[in-house]
Amino acid sequence: MRKKGIVITVALLVICGWLGFTATSTASMEIQKQAKAAGVDAKCQTCHTVAMPKKGSGADELNDCGKWLVSQKEAKKAKEVDGAWAKDCPKK
Ligand code: HEC
Repeated sequence: MRKKGIVITVALLVICGWLGFTATSTASMEIQKQAKAAGVDAKCQTCHTVAMPKKGSGADELNDCGKWLVSQKEAKKAKEVDGAWAKDCPKK
């Protein structure tokens, strides 16, 4: 029975660690997922100037499409950027 307790503890730790990890950059991961669902071949660089934007500076590394998306947030009075808008991104 003791062994079972250890297994459950380890499983809980793994799940908590995973949740903590996925919560770090979910904002942009959502955007990318939405963009892909809308048929955009979305890589980080579709909207960012760098290949792997980091949390904290990610929003400072937006390219024209990324900046346009943020401007749409105000234009559409939306609370958050919707990745699906990326299909209307102005072409460079
Ligand atoms: C379809 C466009 C799009 C794609 C693709 C995209 N991003 Fe973003 N990302 C954005 C926008 C727009 C913001 C700013 C969101 C805001 O200010 O509301 C952002 C913000 C971020 C941030 C800052 C958010 C924070 O919590 O600090 C990070 C980090 C980030 N993106 C990482 C990534 C990574 C990594 C990828 C690729 C796996 C990626 N993004 C792909 C549009 C995109």
